[in-house]
Amino acid sequence: MAAKKMKCVKVEKKGGIAWVWLNRPEKRNAMSPQLHYEMDETLKVLETDPATRVVVIAGAGGYFSAGQDLKEFFRANENNPAGRKAAAEAANRWRWERLYKYDKPTIAMIEGYCVGGAFMQLCAVDFAITADDTVFSLSEVNWGILPGALVSKVVSDTIMPRKALYYCCLGEPFDGVEAEKIGFVNFSVPKEELVDKTIELAQKLMAKSPAVLRATKHAVRQVRTMDFDQSYDYLAAKGQAIKVGDEQDSYNTGLSQFLDKKSYKPTFEPFALKKGKKAAKKKAAKKTAKKKATKKKAGKKTARRR
Ligand code: COA
Repeated sequence: MAAKKMKCVKVEKKGGIAWVWLNRPEKRNAMSPQLHYEMDETLKVLETDPATRVVVIAGAGGYFSAGQDLKEFFRANENNPAGRKAAAEAANRWRWERLYKYDKPTIAMIEGYCVGGAFMQLCAVDFAITADDTVFSLSEVNWGILPGALVSKVVSDTIMPRKALYYCCLGEPFDGVEAEKIGFVNFSVPKEELVDKTIELAQKLMAKSPAVLRATKHAVRQVRTMDFDQSYDYLAAKGQAIKVGDEQDSYNTGLSQFLDKKSYKPTFEPFALKKGKKAAKKKAAKKTAKKKATKKKAGKKTARRR
């Protein structure tokens, strides 16, 4: 992780998952400019970090996020156009450009509050899981602005138009169960199951071929705004592109494990991943070392016999 000490973001890595915690629980994880700069940097680093295979965005202290910090992001920058622009750029970059096109699978784990500007990262990630009792609110109308940056746009793109209008115009809170019903999240679960369910999903994702998964998530997003001819072209090209530099040689491995080895059924599960280059190298080095040790032992025995 970045060497600099972070004040508003905490990262924990375990078993291939990088847990990225918005970390201002005393402010319900409201997003200050500093938090945006740190999130932007953190996501940039994790995208190419070999130990990170899935990124989970969550909020410390049991709160996802109370949205933009009304004091530090809005009021404090009122008469500071340069500061406001820099903060807005970082805010939009991590909450949209980075997450929407991220090269690794991303999950939002949502509990406590998810308000206003936090809907940007909620809609940008690939998957979202919430606790049943989370309070969601598009509160902007209640305090005097419209859902800005890209909130109105990504909310209308994610859920049904009537629901988007209702919640944006009324600013009424709703819970996790409703969030699942209208398509904001994949699953709503009892709070005590939230972490386990998140890990379960991350593990399912890590069992897939990274190259195929990456191309698939990019493809599903990109074709939404293409016509049929463009989609044919894009998907054909993307399909070919997967094969370049794919450590798993996914297409051939998948077919061979099903057709020749008959070791799995693609309808129900992914093919078994080959060990990564590093792991294979380590295994080979271990084998060589063992061979050397056996040889040495045998040599000593012969010498003793003489
Ligand atoms: N911006 C700035 N500060 C915020 C904040 C926000 N979005 N949300 C919470 N805080 C601060 C509070 O001002 C308070 O600070 P203080 O301790 O210095 O007084 C602290 O966080 C705790 O908030 P509090 O309101 O006491 O907690 P709560 O648990 O009773 O209520 C909320 C939590 C989220 C329901 C409530 O704080 C709220 O409605 N916040 C505004 C959310 C919002 O409209 N965000 C949209 C931004 S686009």
